[in-house]
Amino acid sequence: MHSFQPVDFDQMECNPFKMIGQDWMLVTAGNEEKANTMTASWGGVGVMWGKNVVFVFIRDSRYTKEFIDREGRFSLSFLPEKYRKEMKFLGAVSGRDEDKISEAKVHVGYHNGVPYIDEGNLLLICRVMSQTPIKKEDFLDESMDSQWYPSKDYHNMYIAEITDILAR
Ligand SMILES: Cc1cc2nc3c(=O)[nH]c(=O)nc-3n(C[C@H](O)[C@H](O)[C@H](O)COP(=O)(O)O)c2cc1C
Repeated sequence: MHSFQPVDFDQMECNPFKMIGQDWMLVTAGNEEKANTMTASWGGVGVMWGKNVVFVFIRDSRYTKEFIDREGRFSLSFLPEKYRKEMKFLGAVSGRDEDKISEAKVHVGYHNGVPYIDEGNLLLICRVMSQTPIKKEDFLDESMDSQWYPSKDYHNMYIAEITDILAR
């Protein structure tokens, strides 16, 4: 496999609706001793506080959340279609219960200490700028609460600066 090369923001051309919503991404956080990853299909990219940022939405219950909160850093890895099965698995099983990264036979790499999934062909390395719990009171449409949070497992919005873009 080719190694990762840095990509300039000006060179980035992508469709976030497809890349995130349809093809999915892996949110990975931790340190060289232990890292965890989970599949995500909600989120976005944009600009905030003068930085190029990602928006990711992580429910309270996710084990990955503990790693993001501890380290303040995470990565988004975008994998080719042939890893769909692995992404379904990493999005169905919790790292709290199983060593799911080994079971999925994917591999963790590190960029300046931030873990990512090596099977990706595009990586966004991110530093958390803010973390905001989304609460029942925030919805203008009350049906959102019962539709998406019947078990009160709310999302937290992370806005994170993209410090590096790496591509194969
Ligand atoms: C396609 C797909 C998209 C997902 N998107 C999200 C998401 O955006 N936010 C979230 O909190 N969970 C999302 N999940 C669920 C987590 O990936 C799942 O609960 C995972 O097992 C959490 O693992 P962890 O406990 O090891 O962190 C998604 C799952 C799948 C299959």
